[in-house]
Amino acid sequence: MSTSPDPINVADYERLASELLADGPAGYFNGGAGDENTLRANAQAWSRITLRPRVCVDVGDISTAVTVLGEQLSMPILVAPTALQRMAHADGELAMARAAQAAGTLMVCSTLASSSLAEIAAAAPGGPRWLQLYLCRDRSVSNALVDQAVEAGATAIVVTVDAPYAGLRERDPRSGFVVPEQIDMPGVTAALGRSAGLTVDEFFSMVDPTLTWAKLEEFIASAPLPVLVKGIQCGEDARLACDHGVSGIIVSNHGGRQLDNVAPTADVLGEVVEAVTGRVEVLVDGGIRRGSDVCAALALGASAVLVGRPALWGLTVGGAAGAEQVLEVLRHELEITLALLGVTSPRQLTRAHVTGA
Ligand code: FNR
Ligand code: LAC
Repeated sequence: MSTSPDPINVADYERLASELLADGPAGYFNGGAGDENTLRANAQAWSRITLRPRVCVDVGDISTAVTVLGEQLSMPILVAPTALQRMAHADGELAMARAAQAAGTLMVCSTLASSSLAEIAAAAPGGPRWLQLYLCRDRSVSNALVDQAVEAGATAIVVTVDAPYAGLRERDPRSGFVVPEQIDMPGVTAALGRSAGLTVDEFFSMVDPTLTWAKLEEFIASAPLPVLVKGIQCGEDARLACDHGVSGIIVSNHGGRQLDNVAPTADVLGEVVEAVTGRVEVLVDGGIRRGSDVCAALALGASAVLVGRPALWGLTVGGAAGAEQVLEVLRHELEITLALLGVTSPRQLTRAHVTGA
């Protein structure tokens, strides 16, 4: 076997990133809630889905390009919103934005980003981006972020609804994790006066835990951009989301960081797609580590997937170049998997391409 140290898959980047990160940031990035059952199950569930290839199809010309909510992207793999990217690399979100743009895909910028939206936009002018929004107790903070997002050229808002409080994450108190002194999260500072030195529970205290469908509908009605909801885990809520005016749904359990022992997203995607009956696009995240996982998700009806930790691992290992490499690894795996499944484009995938789902 070769002993080449060059990372060639997402797991290689995970290993390398873990060697580079101090305990606090590593625990925050990699950890989940409770016993981390859902964290593990997310990745395992995709790998349980078996693919059902067709042969003797002309696959001489393959394209991974797709349109997601009107956005033309080079592939159906988006960068999920993750907080505090400057803990992964000094260039943080600026590097992530450059990586996403170079890979021809879209970055969702977190409310808890460690750079302002203006800085991110300046780092990757013209790069497609959405704003992930926590509706804050102080709505003027959320509204200001929305204004900044419009200014920064964002084309949609992703409201995260699965985190009225932080999940019961145990790695953070064990490691004594707090936001490092040299890192500022402008969104948090606007809400709480500071961000450095805060625990996870403390910075989550900015989130409004009284959000209801009625309040979400009010927000959507006044929002200057289309709104997706992130954190849907059952058909009933998917239907309610559509009824209350969302433009898209992200099936997510927050990467196993919120409620432990919920079903992996691979297992609830089908239920959500069925409930939505094509009214809006459905995206999914959680445990996507392989091109074959992307194909499974698309075959089950997702229009795209998002990756959280894989992009952070790439960023940790090599800044913008590292994050771009992770995205390119996934794209290459996707391309070959499409071809070996006997399709030439992501949109040709159907339920007939998977078994055991
Ligand atoms: C997240 N996630 C997240 N989600 C969100 O809506 N706003 C946020 O600020 C964050 N922050 C965040 C930080 C870190 C370190 C992680 C790992 C995750 C959740 C994220 O968007 C996504 O749902 C999951 O990361 C998807 O799972 P994978 O790809 O990490 O397995
Ligand atoms: C997290 C946030 C910030 O999962 O959403 O830590």
